[in-house]
Formats: sequence, structure tokens, C-alpha cells
Amino acid sequence: MSLRHIITLPDPRLRLICEPVAKVDAAIRDLMDDMLETMYEAPGIGLAAIQIAVPKRIIVLDTSPKEGPPAPMVFANPEIVWVSPEKRIYEEGCLSIPDYYEEVERPERIRIKFLDREGSEKELEADGLLATCLQHEVDHLNGVLFIDHLSRLKRSRVIKKFEKAAKMEADGIDSDRPFA
Ligand code: NI
Repeated sequence: MSLRHIITLPDPRLRLICEPVAKVDAAIRDLMDDMLETMYEAPGIGLAAIQIAVPKRIIVLDTSPKEGPPAPMVFANPEIVWVSPEKRIYEEGCLSIPDYYEEVERPERIRIKFLDREGSEKELEADGLLATCLQHEVDHLNGVLFIDHLSRLKRSRVIKKFEKAAKMEADGIDSDRPFA
């Protein structure tokens, strides 16, 4: 297992539509393990392969309580096949948009179809935090970020902030240091 670099806004790869996994083989399982290690280290509760610059339809997550034992979950080719009419609001964040949190409304319950670690077809009904997190991660596979669910004003404000920070970094200016 190895730690991977997480790409952040405004990296254009975050907008790619990811490719389905043809077969869950040893290389894919290695990738899933790297993703889990990277997610726990960050720390985060979910990660999509594109966040480590791999444009494949794979997500990992662990929404279990911090105090309890870890409960890693892996999904290849996840596909949301049903959403509840009831919605839920949750304050989301994203490892690719560090230190930014905002409330997002999404369906409260979903049903998802996917391939598990062994490549078997599975279906899962999820609610609460797991449902929110799964929707956030599946969005990543389609080049969608949680800020796309916010108002245009809020979204453009965040994107501008990250573009400016990236430009300052490219110019060799430490963006964490105040100017005046
Ligand atoms: Ni995210």
C-alpha cells in the first residue's frame, strides 16, 4: 500500500468523466488499498479515484463512528439506481477543496448497484451519512463537485479563491502568509 497525492481545485482532472472498471483484478484491489490508506491519512470519510488522478469509476469510504473500529467500504462502477423523494441537508467538505464546508441538500436515501472487492455485483440501500457520502463520491466520477450544488455566487467565490491560491503558488508566493 502507498500514500497517493490528492489533487485539488482548480485541477481540471477533477472535471473528467471517469471510465468504468472492466474487471476487478489485483491491480484494482491495490488501487483500492492505496485509496483507503490515502483517505484515512488525510483524514477523510470518502475518496474517489480521480482525486488521486486516476480516472476510473472507483470510490472508497468509511462513515463509521470515529470511536469504533474502522469499516472500510470499496465500490467499483457504482451506479445510483433509486433515490428517495425525501431530502436531507448535511454540511459537506471535500479533500480536493480543503478547508471549505457548506450545506448541501441531497436525497435522504438511495439504492446503489456496484462491484465489490471481489468483482461480484452487489446492491445496497443507504441512508443518513452513508447516503450523502455515496452521492458525493459518485458525483466525483462524473466530474461533479459538491460546490456545483451551491448557488452560482457561492460556487464562483470558492473557485476564484482556489484559482488565486494556485496562481500564487505557481508564482512562488506562499499563499498562507499574509501580505500586509
Ligand atoms: Ni469530494
